Amino acid sequence: MRELTPDTMTDAVLDQMASTPDPRMREIMAAAVKHLHAFAREVNLTPGEWIKGIEFMTKVGQNCTPTRQEFILLSDTLGLSALVNGLHDRTAIEEGTHTSLLGPFYRDETPTLPAGSQIASRVKPGSECALYGRVTDVQGKPLANATVSVWQTGADGLYDIQENPETPDYRGVFSTDADGRYLVRTVKPVGYSIPMDGPVGQMVKTQGRHGMRPAHIHFLVGAPGYRELVTALYLRDDPHLADDVVFGSSDDLAVDVVPDDPDCPIKGLPSIRFDLKLAREGAADKTSGRVGSDPAAIMKQKEAAVPS
Ligand code: BEZ
Ligand code: FE
Repeated sequence: MRELTPDTMTDAVLDQMASTPDPRMREIMAAAVKHLHAFAREVNLTPGEWIKGIEFMTKVGQNCTPTRQEFILLSDTLGLSALVNGLHDRTAIEEGTHTSLLGPFYRDETPTLPAGSQIASRVKPGSECALYGRVTDVQGKPLANATVSVWQTGADGLYDIQENPETPDYRGVFSTDADGRYLVRTVKPVGYSIPMDGPVGQMVKTQGRHGMRPAHIHFLVGAPGYRELVTALYLRDDPHLADDVVFGSSDDLAVDVVPDDPDCPIKGLPSIRFDLKLAREGAADKTSGRVGSDPAAIMKQKEAAVPS
C-alpha cells in the first residue's frame, strides 16, 4: 500500500475519484480537490483553523431559509458569483449587455404589470422616477414582447422579502412593445448594506469591510432565441460604485437619474434610461446562466432531495 503523506495525499484522492462516470463532474471535483489541498498547504492550515472553517460553513447553512440564502451571500462577498458571471459572459456568441449579480433577493413570485406601472407600494414625495429604454439584439434590432423583470429595495434599503415576505413589492415583470420599449415607474434606488446579522456579515466585519452595495435596480431579461440576461443598473453618483462589497457594479452598467430628459415617456418625472442588448442564444445557453435563484426554490429542491 502506498504511504499517505502530505505530498502524496492529493494524487491518492484524485486516483480514487477517477472512477466518477460523469466527465464534467470528474473535472470539477478533481480541480476542487487540487486547489483545496494547495490552499491548505500554502497556509499550513492547522486542525483548529479548519474546524473553525467547518463551524463557519455550518452556520452559513443554518442561516438559509426560504427567504434568505446565506450561501449565495457568501459566494457574492467572496467575488465568486461575479467571477462566474464574467466567465459566463465570455461564453456568449456575441457581446450583449454585461451580466451582474442576481443576488439573494430575486423571487419567482413577481406580479406581471402593464407598461408604465408603479412597482413600489410606498412612494415618498420626490423619490419617484421612470426607468425606460429598449431591448434590442446586439445590432440594435428591437425585440418585441421581451420579458423584463425588475426588482429593487424600498427607500429603507430593504427588499420586500426581508420586510414582508408574503407580499411582493418593489418588483414587477413587464413586456416590451413592438419597438422593444419598456417603461417602469419606480422610486430612486438607494444604496444598502448586505445582511450583516449572520455569519457572512460577521466575516465581512472581521475583514474591516463596509458591507455596502451601491444603489441599483436588478434586471432579468428574456426573449425567445436570445440568451437570458441577468444584470443590474447602478447609480453613477453612489459613493460605493467602485467598492461594491459583492463586486457587481461596473462603469458600463452605471446610469444617471436625469431630472428633465425630453425623451422620457412620462413627462415631469426624473428618469433613468438604459438600452439592454441581448446576445443570440448559443450552445452554452442550454443550462441557466443565473448565479442564484429564488431562495424558496433552493429550499424546495433540498426538501425534494432529502426524504424524511
Ligand atoms: C443584491 O443586490 O440584491 C445583493 C447581491 C449580493 C448580495 C446581497 C445583495
Ligand atoms: Fe440588490
